[in-house]
Amino acid sequence: MMTQLPDYGFNQAAQAAEFLRSRMKTVPVAAIFTGTGLGQVAASAKASWSVAYADIPNMPAPTVESHHGRLVAGEMAGRAVAIFQGRFHLYEGYSPQAVTFPIRILQCLGVRTLILTNAAGGLNPLFSAGDVMVIEDHINLTGENPLVGVIDPRWGPRFPEIAGAHNGKLQDLARCALNGAGAGCRGGIYAGLKGPSLETAAEMRFLRTIGADAVGFSTVMETIAGVHAGMQVLGLSVITNMCLPDRLISASVEEIIATAENTAPRLGGAIRQVLESVDGEARIS
Ligand code: HPA
Repeated sequence: MMTQLPDYGFNQAAQAAEFLRSRMKTVPVAAIFTGTGLGQVAASAKASWSVAYADIPNMPAPTVESHHGRLVAGEMAGRAVAIFQGRFHLYEGYSPQAVTFPIRILQCLGVRTLILTNAAGGLNPLFSAGDVMVIEDHINLTGENPLVGVIDPRWGPRFPEIAGAHNGKLQDLARCALNGAGAGCRGGIYAGLKGPSLETAAEMRFLRTIGADAVGFSTVMETIAGVHAGMQVLGLSVITNMCLPDRLISASVEEIIATAENTAPRLGGAIRQVLESVDGEARIS
């Protein structure tokens, strides 16, 4: 029997965007997605309104696995922001189009700056748990792509360029902000896998060999959709555990979450500083 796939097309996103536009005080100039354990990045914002994902029209239905799923609208560094606390993952069984549906809503709203945060395993032996890595580039190993299938031309081109996906200026701003925060700021390549099983030692060695510095189960789908949507994208990975094939350390989900939670205030502060310097967009006041 064929399963009827839910439709995450242009009209569905436009309807969700209209719902948000009519309720938010100000249309956001930037959106921030908080990864595992990083929801408290929202504490760096002055929240004015929030809504459960479940109450936004056409949003993918939550799974048992999903993070709490709340959109917080507010202000950060004088900029109107939308903070998506929790994201949809391929490993939960969502299609790439479902995973990137929030990006399409933001595209309909005219949001131009996309900041994606995640928890990731460190592959670069110079890294340590608690470091923040500015994503310089990514390797898509998920076997998925949100642009497969019929693409509405209103979203963007059939064959978008993806080299240079991670905005250089935003990376510089983030490096500055994170170094100022006196913490281990790293730069590197993020390998995106589907998950949910963590990596074997052979996979860790392979990922390092092909040039990856960190590995995780998110961010790549959203980056591709964001670039396709013409947004400037910044990705920030909190290194929650090390993935060293010759020195295997088991990491529990609880430990990963605890490390991410401890890093969230520093990450929030850095994001605020990045937003302060994002130009070309009017301040609220
Ligand atoms: N692997 C994949 N995803 C992750 C990890 C990891 O070791 N840590 C946090 N997210």
